[in-house]
This record gives sequence, C-alpha cells and structure tokens, in this order.
Amino acid sequence: MKLTPAALPDTLRHVDVPEDRLDDILDLDLWAFPASHTVGELRERPSPLSWDRVRGVEAEGVDGLVGMHASYPFARFPVPGATLAVAGLTWVGVHPGHRRQGILRAMVNDHLAAAAGRGETVSALTASEPAIYGRFGYGMASQVVSLSLPRGATLHPVPGSDRVKIGFEAFDLERHRDLVAELHAAAGGSQPNRPGWVTRETPELARGFLDDHPIVRGGSEPRRMLVARVAGRPTGYAMFRRRLDWPDGTAAGTVHVRETVALDPPTAHALWSRLLDLDLTTSIEVGQLTLADPLLGLLVDLRAAKPRLSDNVWIRIIDLPGALAGRRYASDLDLVLEVGDDLIAENAGRWRVRAAAFAGDVSVTRTDDAADIRLDVATLGALYLGGGSAASLAGAGALTASSPAALARFATAFGWPVPPGSSWVF
Ligand SMILES: CC(C)(COP(=O)(O)OP(=O)(O)OC[C@H]1O[C@@H](n2cnc3c(N)ncnc32)[C@H](O)[C@@H]1OP(=O)(O)O)[C@@H](O)C(=O)NCCC(=O)NCCS
Repeated sequence: MKLTPAALPDTLRHVDVPEDRLDDILDLDLWAFPASHTVGELRERPSPLSWDRVRGVEAEGVDGLVGMHASYPFARFPVPGATLAVAGLTWVGVHPGHRRQGILRAMVNDHLAAAAGRGETVSALTASEPAIYGRFGYGMASQVVSLSLPRGATLHPVPGSDRVKIGFEAFDLERHRDLVAELHAAAGGSQPNRPGWVTRETPELARGFLDDHPIVRGGSEPRRMLVARVAGRPTGYAMFRRRLDWPDGTAAGTVHVRETVALDPPTAHALWSRLLDLDLTTSIEVGQLTLADPLLGLLVDLRAAKPRLSDNVWIRIIDLPGALAGRRYASDLDLVLEVGDDLIAENAGRWRVRAAAFAGDVSVTRTDDAADIRLDVATLGALYLGGGSAASLAGAGALTASSPAALARFATAFGWPVPPGSSWVF
C-alpha cells in the first residue's frame, strides 16, 4: 500500500517501544493527558497495551519520547453481519513542546502502513477530540448517548422482571472477569449482530478495563456489581460506583454507571430498577450508551434524563475492497461508488459493489461505469458500521447521488437493523 508521504523532520525518528520503556510511555501520557497522579502511581495499574504494537517518536537530544501511538489487535471486530481483523488505534499523544510539527500525521501513516502489513483492512478509534481524525480519512461511524437520570425515573413495565434475581456484589477481579467477558460478548453476538460492539479481546485489555485502582475511582467508592440471574444462570450485569455528598446536610449521592449488559428485557428492567433506586442518591450518571441500548426503550421520559449525543467509534477504511467485501448489507445492492482518498491512492476511484441482502458473497470490483454515489473515504467510514445517516450526510454535501432512488438504495443497503456502537472507550 502506498501512502501520501508524511515524513518526520530529520531530527525525529520512529522507534518500537518495548515494555521496559513503560515509564517513558506513562510520562508522555501525563504530558498529553494531564492528570493529578504520578508516573509511579500509574505504574501500579495493569497496562492494557500489546507491546509488539507500541511505537514511539524520539527527538535528537531529548530524553524519553515526544510522540507515541499503539494499536489493539481486534481480531474479531464486529461489522455488519460479520467480524473483521481491525487495528484499534490508541494511546496517541504528542508532547506539548513538540506539537503541530506533523508528528501525528507521520504517526497515522506509520499506523496505517503497519495495519495494512498485518492484513487489517480497517482502523478504528475513539477520539479525545472529534476535530482531529477526519483529515486522515476517519469517519464518525457510531454515536453514544450520555444520560443524567433523576432517582426514581419511571421505566415501562416488563413482564417477568420480578423473577430476575439481582445480586449486589463487591467487584472482585477473579470472580467477575469471566462473567463480564462472556456476557459482554454474548450481548454483541446475537443475529443481527451489533456492529462496533468491540470486546476486550486480549488478556491485557480485559485486565486493564476492569482495573479498580483508587486513582480511577474519582473520589467514588470501589467498584460495585449488580449481577442478574434467571434460574441461577447469569443474564446481565451493571458496573457502578456511588459517591455520597451532603450539600446543606441533605444526602445527594450520585451513581456512576460504567457498563450494563442485559441479555433479555426482564434483566434490563430489573438492573435499571435497582440502579435508579439506591438510598442516599439523587442522580444516576450513565455514559457510553449505544443507540441500541434497552434503557432508551425502557425510559418513559427521555427528556428528563438530559440526553447528550456524542461521537463514539471512528472508522478508517484501509483496504477498500477488503473492507466492503468483509461486511454484509441490509438489502440487495448493485451500485457504483466513486470514492475519494487523498491518503491511500489505491482506495480512490470507482467501485461496483454487488451483494445480496444479508448474504456473504459480496463482490467489489473496479469499474469505469458512471457513479451512482460519490463520497470520500471518511464518509464511507462513517457509514461502514451501518449507523450514520446517508440522508444527513447527503444534506451536508458529504455525498452526492445520481438520483434520489440511488440514494435510497445506498442508504438502505449500507444501514443495519442494530445501531452500531462500543460500550467502552479504547
Ligand atoms: C492531538 C495531537 C496528537 C496532535 O499531534 P500533533 O503532532 O500536534 O499533530 P500534527 O502536527 O501532526 O497535526 C496534523 C494536523 O492535525 C491538526 N490537529 C492536530 N491536533 C488537533 C486538534 N486537537 N484539533 C484539531 N486539529 C488538530 C493540525 O492542525 C494539523 O492540521 P493541518 O495538517 O491541516 O495543518 C496532540 O496535540 C496531543 O497529543 N494532544 C493531547 C492528547 C490527545 O488528544 N491525543 C489524541 C488521543 S485520541
């Protein structure tokens, strides 16, 4: 794969970063993402990194690193109707003393070249700031909702909810690690699947996600778990912490919900009923709810929950024919896409995409036929997981269609019955 060059200045160089340079990584991390803790405290936390995929940038005459990036090996990243090998770009940081010299641009090239070399057809990330990655061909492919719920928020009733047994358990790594992994994976694996519902595939990532070191608690209690069981079989969980405050002498605690998984409607109802009625609390903060989350269907008054919509997974298509053939489509498809890509020239041009609804035999071939849809690779990335609105992107001028009928066929085929999204930030 040939990338538009983005070389580092002569005084800088890319290096592999082995595990024994953890302190350099953590030091740069704290320059890039300011926090109250020290390198020594961060070192006590388990690292989620896959060390054979950690890269740094060194500068002449400077100790340590001035730039870094890494990727997670998502071998089974869910895309519509299938899973793909995806590179999860992460731990991107540039020292504030070296920013805006093109280090990030060079690091993205390095990342994409390495991912292509490993046969990863797509790169995915969650962004610290949404304005950063569009220029590199990443499109916002899923959205999440955050809620601030009042205690006692009313839920639509679900028959059978009272038969779900809810255990209140102090979080214990050994006790809960497999339960969380299995239920989380099961929630994404039903058909039609949940695109973007990426699992913590490596042991390092699973361990890092579950870390409950005091510095991640933000002044709240150690992690608590609700575990739902039906006839003794686990059907869901909620991870949460409470923080008790007494403004004016009145209890006004907050419940921070990290992640909930429910395999059936009674479980979802039973878990949320408990979270919404904990003594000494007045509000329940929930981040990272995908648009497929049952809570959005359970709430009687969404408005009272003050919903905030935000970007979630960003997708960069690296190998266009591989990526488009690697997903399924929600209706029969036979369209010519004309794609622009300033960074990866092999992706640019006209492609005929043919597929039968929900079937695996997708063909993606170059063509000189007239285009039905024109868009750039970031817009294609935005639609790749089956979320995003082709109508909205067309309205914004990000894609053009040869006719309203072509736009309708494209929007239907590229959509998916389950809205995409990840329940956690990577
Ligand atoms: C974001 C960050 C990695 C950018 O690194 P950098 O080396 O300064 O970026 P570059 O010099 O390669 O910039 C490349 C382009 O991106 C733009 N850009 C960089 N950071 C940006 C930001 N935060 N918002 C908007 N645009 C940004 C630059 O202006 C430049 O644009 P141009 O090519 O049109 O001139 C760095 O500022 C940083 O570490 N920030 C704090 C940590 C962070 O947010 N990391 C990202 C985690 S997802």
